[in-house]
Amino acid sequence: MSALKISQQKEQLTPDQRQRLQDLLAFVNQEASHFLGYPCNRLFDYTPLYPFLSFPMNNVGDPFLPSRYHLNSHEFEREVIAFFAALTHAKPEEIWGYVTNGGTEGNMYGIYLAREIYPEGLVYYSEATHYSVPKILRMVHARNIMIKSTANGEIDYQDLAATLRIHRDVPAIIFANIGTTMTGAVDNLDRIKQALKDNAITHYYIHCDAALGGMILPFVEQPPAFDFNAGIDSLAISGHKMVGSPVPCGIALAKKCHVDRIARAVEYISTFDTTVSGSRNAITPLFLWYAIHCHGVNGFRDIVRGCLKMAAYAVQRFNDCGIPAWRNDNSITVVFPKGPEAVMSQWQIALQGDLGHILIMPHVTEQQVNQLLADIVAATEAAP
Ligand SMILES: Cc1ncc(COP(=O)(O)O)c(C=O)c1O
Repeated sequence: MSALKISQQKEQLTPDQRQRLQDLLAFVNQEASHFLGYPCNRLFDYTPLYPFLSFPMNNVGDPFLPSRYHLNSHEFEREVIAFFAALTHAKPEEIWGYVTNGGTEGNMYGIYLAREIYPEGLVYYSEATHYSVPKILRMVHARNIMIKSTANGEIDYQDLAATLRIHRDVPAIIFANIGTTMTGAVDNLDRIKQALKDNAITHYYIHCDAALGGMILPFVEQPPAFDFNAGIDSLAISGHKMVGSPVPCGIALAKKCHVDRIARAVEYISTFDTTVSGSRNAITPLFLWYAIHCHGVNGFRDIVRGCLKMAAYAVQRFNDCGIPAWRNDNSITVVFPKGPEAVMSQWQIALQGDLGHILIMPHVTEQQVNQLLADIVAATEAAP
């Protein structure tokens, strides 16, 4: 399409339609200043990448193979995968991955691979697992059992061991949380592997949902086991969470030998179909690549340390005000008893049962934490 036609297309909007866009922009801009309840970093600037939005870019197919669709960013996607593979201690020659539409797709990919390897396998996951996982299990028809969670959100190791014992004859597919949605709890992979060993279950697959934790634990001192070092089979991270992106995205990593089992040659795109989606976003790998090069490992380490420090500050401030807030080790998720609805809604606080949480993402300031707290205290005091 010529530049002239594009500008004509813009002119086709009525003043009313233009106003609606303006209104939405103003609304989003205003609400962004009260964005504390969800784990999405809003500090990014990808303006140098905007020219790519003028092309129908598409990363269809396997990022590691040539494709007949040339308007892609596969080369950059491969570098992004290499970065996250290194962060999660995957052996370069053994790992494969791609940039997904988000953590959900990465988890689906892991479960899909596991189910292909062990069609009769049983998936074990805790009740603190993200709501999308039971849906994925239904979609891929994977047999599954929900395991209890402990108060802090970890999988209940006793319940897991007891349940494994009943099903010792069936391969186990472990869906481990590396940072649960509500409390940021990390399932202990050593204890999970011990439970498998105690039950003499040698056929097993471990997928780690590291949606948020996958970009926190690599940067803390003495992290718990959470990655390929621990002998896991696949892992998913969200890109729009700690890294930050205006478009949801994520990273799926899996052992190459597992992916080879599901690869199918497709003549139409002249490459292998190894991903969940056909057409895939080619811009999000550029966002991630750009962020990786702007921050580097040291930059991300500083960012994560800043968030953890601010999370400790928030817990302290809540406690000082008599609100029993808490957080798990190495977590930027600050959990507290939910406050008055008007305040929870104003600050976009995610709720579950009696709990609320704030996520201390890089954009969260001390001033915002203090203001939220002041709003909770004021609304609680004003309540009849
Ligand atoms: C632990 C966990 N897993 C998976 C997801 C889903 O990730 P996404 O929203 O990137 O699809 C989330 C989202 O918050 C999450 O917290």
